[in-house]
Amino acid sequence: MKEGAINKEGLSRIDGRLKVTGAARYSAEFTPAGMVYGVLVGSTITKGSIKLIDTKAAEKAPGVLTVITHFNCPKIPGYQPETGKPEPEKGPYKFFYNNKILFNGQPVAVVVADTFERALLASSLVKVQYNTDNYRTNLRANIDKSFSPGNDGETKRGNVDAWQSAPIKLQQEYVIPSEVHSPMELHSIIARWDANDKLTVWDKTQGVKDTQESIANTFKLPKENVQVNSKFVGGAFGSALQVWPHEIAVIIAAKVVKRPVKLMLSRADMFTSVGYRPHTWQKIGIGATGDGKLVGITHEAIGQTSTYEDFNEGPTGVSRSTYACANVHTIYKLNALDIGSPTWMRGPGEATGAFALESALDELSYALNIDPIELRLKNYAETDPESGKPFSSKYLNEAYKLGADHIGWNDRSQKPASISKDGWLEGYGMGGGMFGAYRDQAACRALMMVDGTLLLQTSVSDIGPGTGTAMVSIASEMMGIDPEKIRFEMGDSSLPYAPSQGGSSITATVGSAVNDACKDLKEKFQQLIGNGGSDKPDYVKILKEHNLSKLEATTASKGGPEMSKYAMYSWSVHFVKVKVHPATGVIKIDRVVCVADSGHIVSPKTARSQIIGGAIGGIGMALMEEVVIDHRYGKVVNNNFADYHVPVNADIPQIEALFVNKPDPYINPMGAKGMGEIALIGMAGAVANAVYNASGIRVRELPITPDKLIMAKNAQV
Ligand code: MOS
Repeated sequence: MKEGAINKEGLSRIDGRLKVTGAARYSAEFTPAGMVYGVLVGSTITKGSIKLIDTKAAEKAPGVLTVITHFNCPKIPGYQPETGKPEPEKGPYKFFYNNKILFNGQPVAVVVADTFERALLASSLVKVQYNTDNYRTNLRANIDKSFSPGNDGETKRGNVDAWQSAPIKLQQEYVIPSEVHSPMELHSIIARWDANDKLTVWDKTQGVKDTQESIANTFKLPKENVQVNSKFVGGAFGSALQVWPHEIAVIIAAKVVKRPVKLMLSRADMFTSVGYRPHTWQKIGIGATGDGKLVGITHEAIGQTSTYEDFNEGPTGVSRSTYACANVHTIYKLNALDIGSPTWMRGPGEATGAFALESALDELSYALNIDPIELRLKNYAETDPESGKPFSSKYLNEAYKLGADHIGWNDRSQKPASISKDGWLEGYGMGGGMFGAYRDQAACRALMMVDGTLLLQTSVSDIGPGTGTAMVSIASEMMGIDPEKIRFEMGDSSLPYAPSQGGSSITATVGSAVNDACKDLKEKFQQLIGNGGSDKPDYVKILKEHNLSKLEATTASKGGPEMSKYAMYSWSVHFVKVKVHPATGVIKIDRVVCVADSGHIVSPKTARSQIIGGAIGGIGMALMEEVVIDHRYGKVVNNNFADYHVPVNADIPQIEALFVNKPDPYINPMGAKGMGEIALIGMAGAVANAVYNASGIRVRELPITPDKLIMAKNAQV
């Protein structure tokens, strides 16, 4: 099949060739004239203050241009604390702000030199003296110090204690450790001042417009004077949704040395400086009637945050909206530790909450002796249990059937540890996910050139799912032209507005803008040729006949009143077959089938990749990923890929991604809903449930490593 054509499997990635040949240039791969290199110096203590920073040796080292610390950092109006004014109690950590140390690894200085190696060497010569304070990094040991995050800590629906008087009930605790995003591409930024009030950055970011605004606000610059480029992003998963302190430091450094400065975080820095999924303790009480109707759910969660920011990701929301249940009580608390702030990580709170909820549902299915899918169907929500609104669309029951048929759910036994083949125990599990289907505002410029090229421009940055490919697919269908003739330009803050790529909203949001701009452009052509124009006009011919070099439409697009009339969600269900070795506790994922109910699939090939990627993230969450802190020092000890495990090819079997593929009638013209988050949400629960079905051992604290299975087995004997 010819490259660039759309067939049943969908368009191949329009940037695939660029990526595999190395021609795609990521933020660190630019070399503006005169560029120099920055390296961070991180705090070696966990809490306290800086007494002294001795930079003399570093400054004398070869090639060093400057060493910036809070002692010598130029004053930025409105950034540093003002004398006499009280400092805000909470707020994002700022580099060069004051002498306080809030977490281990916190950057305290940036060294700039003419080469990276020289900057790295000099960074080792910076000597810092600290005053140390007592600190807390252990969630478990400090759980009694949790607090409510403002007004949305607790919700009540119906009789909050109902689950306790249900005929069949259980209460269990579920824990997830903290995880890091671990994108392949390290965070990096190049900053170049083009004039005293004019700045260009090449930055790894999920949103060039948000980054532009954030930088402009920090440095009090007119927005249009900040040019943000982020043409290719090698994964981010939430870690590049905000401007981090090191980015500000580089912009300051570039001003000090009057040259462009590049800084790329080390992999170790990625464990402390760009957020993570917070370590979270949860407890679920759930009760049902003897035939499996839910009576009540109580869902408590305590999530870790930093001392300086309250990160609230609402992990208990899933218990309010996933299943039909009249009596629901949720309590969410935060626990402030001396660690950097957590942030959104794929699936965010829903992924955390769904591990607990989907595990609890599974445990309930055994208590009831009901098939887990049947249990979910018995409690199928036909309308949103939380808001009472009708769903804009929901075909989750079809997704259950598709997935169950595909994985051969009938081969499963409801009796745990009852299937053994070739010395391995085998079992099946499932888990579901849901996530709000959002449509934000965006604009797109569509330009038809006289050479027949359609140029689409919007500022969105593509963090990896293949946004350009999806957008070209939409435009190709709308305009009736070959995808090869379409050029998609993005990742540039001077282009029409698009929001940050996050919250599974971009296909629905930017896709609508592309769709609408193409529709407007087509209408302009229709106006040129008057009535009787064909439905598939020859654009080039019309332009030539009218002596035009191009025709353009720039269209802003957003949802209408139907957005608030309906509850809009995407749904997923994950089916997993595992093998568990009874003696060693080794777990092999044997098969995975994921089904998404996320509306019309506009780009089948990249959608499939998106689901597979999320499922792999969920397998990592279930079996491997865990940030380990040595609480004696408050320091992350596994800050590298030798010790922090993510799944590799050998861990991943064939993953099948299926789609219900029915358009949502309300969300947008394509009927497309997001799928980035639901690809992961529910997956860890599905794996845990399969491990239980195979082995009879329920692990409620992730990751499910072999030692936990062996210890549980020994305890049973
Ligand atoms: Mo995501 S956590 O919406 O990047």
